[in-house]
Amino acid sequence: MTTHKMAVPRTLRAEHHELHHELARAMDAGGRTGEAARRVADLLHPHFGKEEEFALPPLAVLAALAKGAALPDPGAILERTERLKAEFAQLVREHDEIVKALQALIMTAKADQKPEIVRFAEQLVLHAETEEEVLYPAAILVGEYLKLKRAL
Ligand SMILES: [Fe+2]
Ligand SMILES: [Fe+2]
Repeated sequence: MTTHKMAVPRTLRAEHHELHHELARAMDAGGRTGEAARRVADLLHPHFGKEEEFALPPLAVLAALAKGAALPDPGAILERTERLKAEFAQLVREHDEIVKALQALIMTAKADQKPEIVRFAEQLVLHAETEEEVLYPAAILVGEYLKLKRAL
């Protein structure tokens, strides 16, 4: 089945956009720090793509569900939450790789005295933790809730 593109909540899309932008700036720093930033970018781009395809769109319906509103296309949400469940461990492995690359970036940026890049890299580590602790589980629960409702 082909899945049409589904909106990511605006706030989360903006956060990804900002992190991309900061990473591009870090690459522009050149030298060892720029290289370390490029390594992060190589890992991050395909990862963000997957998140925006199926991990984050289910969160766009949270507010409507909390109000008790009916969804126009619950099947399209369920497709994504089931894919997230199936790929959860893989996404966490990708985070582990990304965090390792970020730790290397933090070391080189500290040595190069680039505190703004250190701060950005630390924010990106937190971003991954927020996803694992809050956003992915919330997205999965959206799917579980829809299945429960359907069974009633
Ligand atoms: Fe993300
Ligand atoms: Fe992520």
